[in-house]
Order: sequence, then C-alpha cells, then structure tokens
Amino acid sequence: MSRAAETAHLRKVLITGGAGYIGSHVIYTLQKTRRYKVISLDNGYNSHPDALSRVSALLRSELPADASAHDIGSTEIESHHFNLTRRDEVRTVFEKHGKGGIWGVVHIAAHKAVGESVEIPLTYYENNVVGTLFLLQMMQEYECTRIIYSSSATVYGTPPTIPILETTRLQADSPYGNTKIMSETLIHDLCRAESEWSAISLRYFNPAGAHPSGQIGEHPKGRPENLLPLLAHMGVGRVDASTLQVFGNDYPTPDGTCVRDYLHIIDLAEGHLLALEALNQNSKVFDTPGPRFKAYNLGLGKGVSVLEIIKAMRKVTSFDFTYETVGRRHGDVPQLIADPTLAEKELGFKANQDLSVMCRDLWNFQSKNPDGYGEF
Ligand SMILES: NC(=O)c1ccc[n+]([C@@H]2O[C@H](COP(=O)([O-])OP(=O)(O)OC[C@H]3O[C@@H](n4cnc5c(N)ncnc54)[C@H](O)[C@@H]3O)[C@@H](O)[C@H]2O)c1
Repeated sequence: MSRAAETAHLRKVLITGGAGYIGSHVIYTLQKTRRYKVISLDNGYNSHPDALSRVSALLRSELPADASAHDIGSTEIESHHFNLTRRDEVRTVFEKHGKGGIWGVVHIAAHKAVGESVEIPLTYYENNVVGTLFLLQMMQEYECTRIIYSSSATVYGTPPTIPILETTRLQADSPYGNTKIMSETLIHDLCRAESEWSAISLRYFNPAGAHPSGQIGEHPKGRPENLLPLLAHMGVGRVDASTLQVFGNDYPTPDGTCVRDYLHIIDLAEGHLLALEALNQNSKVFDTPGPRFKAYNLGLGKGVSVLEIIKAMRKVTSFDFTYETVGRRHGDVPQLIADPTLAEKELGFKANQDLSVMCRDLWNFQSKNPDGYGEF
C-alpha cells in the first residue's frame, strides 16, 4: 500500500480528555498501532499543555533511526483545546472531518473527584452528563455511531458481593458515580433507539503507573486525589509527606483499610484498543439480539489494601512514608474488586502487570520528572 493510501486507510478516532492521564496513554497505544489516527479534544481543565507533545516525542523515540518523514509525521496528534459543554466547539471538530469522517469516539473526558462531586454536584452533572449529551448529539449529526465510554467501578457503589460482576445493580454513592451511571444510560438508550449505534462502556477499577519509558505519566493539577500519585508526589517533595492520612482502619478487610483493584495504565490502554476492535460491524461481542451496548469491568481481579500500597511504594522509593490514621472518609466503600472474566472472554482483555510493576513505573516517571510536565 502506498503511503498516501495507508494514511487514507487509517481510522480517525476522536479521544475526549486526550491530554489527561488515561487519555494520553490511550492515544499513545492507539497511534502506535498505525491503524488509527487520533484526534484529541481536551479543554485543559486537568491537563498540561505539553502532555500531547510528550506522547508524540515518545512515539518518535520508538521509530527506527532511518524513519521516513511520513513515519515521523504519523506521530503528530491533531489536538483541539475545546470544551465538551460547548456544543459549538464540539461541532467544529466534527465539521472539520465531515459526515462519517470520524470512525469512532473514545469518551474519556470528565471531572473525577468523588469528594469534590459531593460539594459541587451541579458542576459534575454539567461537565460529565451534559458534556456526554452534547457529544452524542454531535456524533449523531455527523454520522459517527461508535463509542467507547470511560466508566468506573464507582457505578457499583457498595456492591453486595465481591468480586463484582457487570450484572451487579448500579447504585452509586456519590454524584460523580451518578454521572457515570447517567452517561451510561444515555448511551444505552441511544443504542436501543438506533440500531446502527455500537457502544462499549469500560468500567475501570484503579488505573495506576505510567509508561515504562518514564516519558509520560500522570500530572494532575494541585494535590493528587488518588493514593499512588499522592505518594509519588510526597516522594519527590511536591507534597508535604507529613500530611499522609489513612482514612479508616476498621473496615471489614484483612488489615482494616480499604481494598481496591489496581491495574497498570498500559494494560488499561490496551483494553481500549481491544474494545475499539470489538466495535466492528461483524464483532461477536454483539451477537445477542437487542441493543449493541455492552459494559465490561477492567481490573486485575485482585485486591490491594491502603497499607499494602504504602508498603509497596516504600520499597520502590526507599522513602519512609509515615501516616496518621483518621476516621473513615464519606463515600469510601470497604472493597472494590473486579470480576474481569467477561472482558477476558469477549474482548480478550487480561491485565497482567502487578502492583510492584505499577509502583516501579510510577516512580520511574515521577523521579525522572519531579515536576511532572512542568508548572501549569
Ligand atoms: N483515574 C482513575 O482512577 C479513574 C478510575 C475510574 C474511571 N476514571 C475515568 O476515566 C476518565 C479519565 O480519568 P483520568 O484519570 O485520565 O482523569 P484526568 O483528569 O487526567 O483526564 C480527564 C481529562 O478530561 C479533560 N476534561 C474534563 N472535562 C472536560 C470538558 N468538559 N471538555 C474537554 N475536556 C475535559 C481534562 O482536562 C483532562 O485532561 C474519567 O472519565 C474518569 O471518570 C478514572
């Protein structure tokens, strides 16, 4: 195939939230296959302006020394600094590529802090639910009917049984979790109404780590919300290490602290690739009659406690994290562990890398980039 034909053959995929933690690793993973041409839409709310140039640089660093100008060009990422809650801005991107021009969407953009969502629920509903609605409307108008949605284990709230199956009732404990259920519902209803739509909702458990090169990773604005990046920031002195708190040690878990299912960010990104492949018209995933909508858990299927995380990070950083145990935090549930069997059976997904690899890669990124991608 000629170079021009090869370019024309690429599937254009719009990634919302492409400059964020998960988005940047998904873009890297898709673009690397040379089967997809990625377009990013991100308003910079929680992402650094240099995130995507880091992804391009990483892709370029993996090219052979004699790479052609075309190969080097293929590492560039089309990027739009737009807001999903501005329908005109979303329309601009679809208009640029024309009807049917964008093959599919991976909808990752959202606000994601559980505690904050309790304080400012309307902001969360607007950003996450209205943003999803406008995106779907524009997809419909521009005849783009394939979508992968970034959902979350928070849709299960406090699940009645562990490990959690996809058939578990959805009953979130926070506005954030509700925005994920509502967005899934919007997409599911659309698939019910219009048979040409295909959608996969990926319910992530706890993504962690960074690309093993240390060139891309997580760079949140402000103090990290999640435990692993928080420990990494403490390790490099970006966050005062004396402020480490463990919320509750009286949960019904082996050591009394909360248990979560962590999976490596690269395993998670590979899951998106598998899900996109499954959106093909003849995919077996949608063999059963009814709407072409499926939900899958993406997790390792193993739980790790807060204290085990601290121990694992002590080992890779040689930093002696000390902590204070305080009361339970509103909205925290004792255990969230995926049953990832369905994703393995139907998508061929298997998260392979364990906690020590996640901590190693996280620390590799953070120690090489103590200030992440630089100040915002
Ligand atoms: N990180 C986790 O632990 C986790 C777990 C489960 C689910 N998720 C989901 O995965 C997705 C991505 O999470 P992440 O950790 O990469 O977060 P992130 O904050 O790093 O990335 C989200 C990106 O979306 C962008 N964004 C937010 N609102 C936007 C808007 N209105 N218009 C355009 N861009 C917007 C932000 O600027 C950011 O770059 C979210 O939907 C989140 O709910 C994350």
